[in-house]
Amino acid sequence: MFEPLIWDDGVLKILDQTRLPDEVSWISCKSYLDVALCIKEMKIRGAPAIGIAGAYGVCLADDKEKAIETLKRTRPTGRDLFYTLERMKDSKNPLELAKQIHQELKEKNRKIGEYGIFLLYDGISILTHCNAGSLACCGIGTALAPIYLAHNKGMNIKVFASETRPRCQGARLTMWELERAGISSTLIADTMVGYAMKNKLVDIVFVGADRIAKNGDLANKIGTYQIAILSNYHKIPFFALAPTSTIDLSIEDGSKIPIEERSKDELGYNVNCLNPAFDITPHSLITGIITEEGITRKKEVEKGLLMPLLWG
Ligand code: MRU
Repeated sequence: MFEPLIWDDGVLKILDQTRLPDEVSWISCKSYLDVALCIKEMKIRGAPAIGIAGAYGVCLADDKEKAIETLKRTRPTGRDLFYTLERMKDSKNPLELAKQIHQELKEKNRKIGEYGIFLLYDGISILTHCNAGSLACCGIGTALAPIYLAHNKGMNIKVFASETRPRCQGARLTMWELERAGISSTLIADTMVGYAMKNKLVDIVFVGADRIAKNGDLANKIGTYQIAILSNYHKIPFFALAPTSTIDLSIEDGSKIPIEERSKDELGYNVNCLNPAFDITPHSLITGIITEEGITRKKEVEKGLLMPLLWG
């Protein structure tokens, strides 16, 4: 796998994801401000990887509190950054803890993959949006974790990646990851999801999540909501895969999740633009959520069978 960040002898090396797929280049962060800038400019992105970068960022600071406050102000939507910074706050040995959180995340991703693979079968075609692979989450990723494991087991699976305008994480990052791994993958523009579903090209949807509210509503990359609506219309199972650190039990429902608004320049036209980086998918459209603890489906929780953690 291609790790998005490496701690190397007092320096945090971040893979510059804004340059992929054309160029593999690394940025050396020597201070927490370098890390904060990399997060803000999306050199490193994806909620879990941002959380790990934030944890290492704290290790590069003389003033831990100031670093935590600065890092918290970089990107508001993803929950993992706030989760890791909260853990870093009281640590006596920050570097050891940052390394531990990093390692824990990789193990959680593997477990997510091991649960997710139960939903796959030979010949299945999976649609994913944005990038929730190793670049976004370290290890084998979250939404891509079952896909990597299934491929390693020799299963015949196909992946459709939606482009994910305006930053094109699907086209630039997911396609890069999957092609490097030798997994059969096809890019579609965001506008082609309905076509692909209507023509029975998609059997299941796997997406990541940036923050999950107590009732199971979730924030994920802009465009996720419309994919969930299309999945429901076409009766295609729609699953979100994320570590439990993405779940924010202090937030009752999706309407309270802060949505990051990014620069209009990202759309690439010199006109008035709206540019929310995320949208909210209501729990009613989600077939299930897969975490390192297992698969939770609304109907099973209602019957008292599974993880009463979610669906309030
Ligand atoms: O803006 P990004 O690239 O940091 O957003 C990442 C996402 O929204 C991904 O879709 C992902 O599912 C959540 S992080 C694994």
